[in-house]
Amino acid sequence: MALIQVRNLVKKFDGRDVLKGVSIDLYKGQAKVLMGTSGCGKSTLLRCLNLLVQPTSGQVIFKGEDITLPGVDVRKVRGEIGFVFQHFALYRHLTVEENVTLGLRKIKKIKSREASEKASYELNRVGMFEHRNKYPAQLSGGQKQRAAIVRALAMDPDVLFLDEPTSALDPQMSREVVTVINRLFLDNITMFCVTHDAFLAKYISDSIVFMDDGVIVAEDIAERLFYESADPRIKQFFMSVADHR
Ligand SMILES: Nc1ncnc2c1ncn2[C@@H]1O[C@H](COP(=O)(O)OP(=O)(O)O)[C@@H](O)[C@H]1O
Ligand SMILES: [Mg+2]
Repeated sequence: MALIQVRNLVKKFDGRDVLKGVSIDLYKGQAKVLMGTSGCGKSTLLRCLNLLVQPTSGQVIFKGEDITLPGVDVRKVRGEIGFVFQHFALYRHLTVEENVTLGLRKIKKIKSREASEKASYELNRVGMFEHRNKYPAQLSGGQKQRAAIVRALAMDPDVLFLDEPTSALDPQMSREVVTVINRLFLDNITMFCVTHDAFLAKYISDSIVFMDDGVIVAEDIAERLFYESADPRIKQFFMSVADHR
């Protein structure tokens, strides 16, 4: 059974359908990328899946349980889904290490020393150990995003969501972050990543889901979707993002 099964998911904002019946499966160890034009509902979909947004109808079955039903432990669900945002969302008044250990201590109730050891180990994996005592303002964009990825991964989530993780970065910093996410992909970390970056999409995905106006129109491997699709919406999208590669 899939780790996350989405069935006929609908989200309305102010009576307007933003998600119009989305169904997706994400299996353990699988990495999927979600692409589509700006405003088509990608972030809304991710947010519905970890209950930052309440779906209007449909089902989200996470580890066998429908988490759209009343009485679900929202905090527990969010603790099991790591989330990385475009603008990093690090705590400004905390150092890199403190950003990473906060959730371990407060949510996982791990003792300070152990949390610090875990943080050191995870920071080392992405080349951020030497920056552990810096504050976010002292870091480059790429370093901030790597810290945010470590913060999410240190919680040992079942799945990592990334919403445009390289969109706020210049090409050089973006490469740094792609390298890190590619390593997670090679380690079979379960991921669901929204991006416009065709380079990122290709190097971190088992398959790519293409969404248009609240509907999934295709799912395929990168090569076929980028170069062989006959769907005019998909062709146009990849022409418009091609010059960013
Ligand atoms: N909280 C909200 N309230 C009202 N409308 C929203 C809200 N969040 C998103 N929308 C609208 O839903 C549509 C899809 O947004 P979003 O999921 O952010 O798109 P994407 O991430 O694909 O660019 C947009 O038209 C957006 O304005
Ligand atoms: Mg978005």
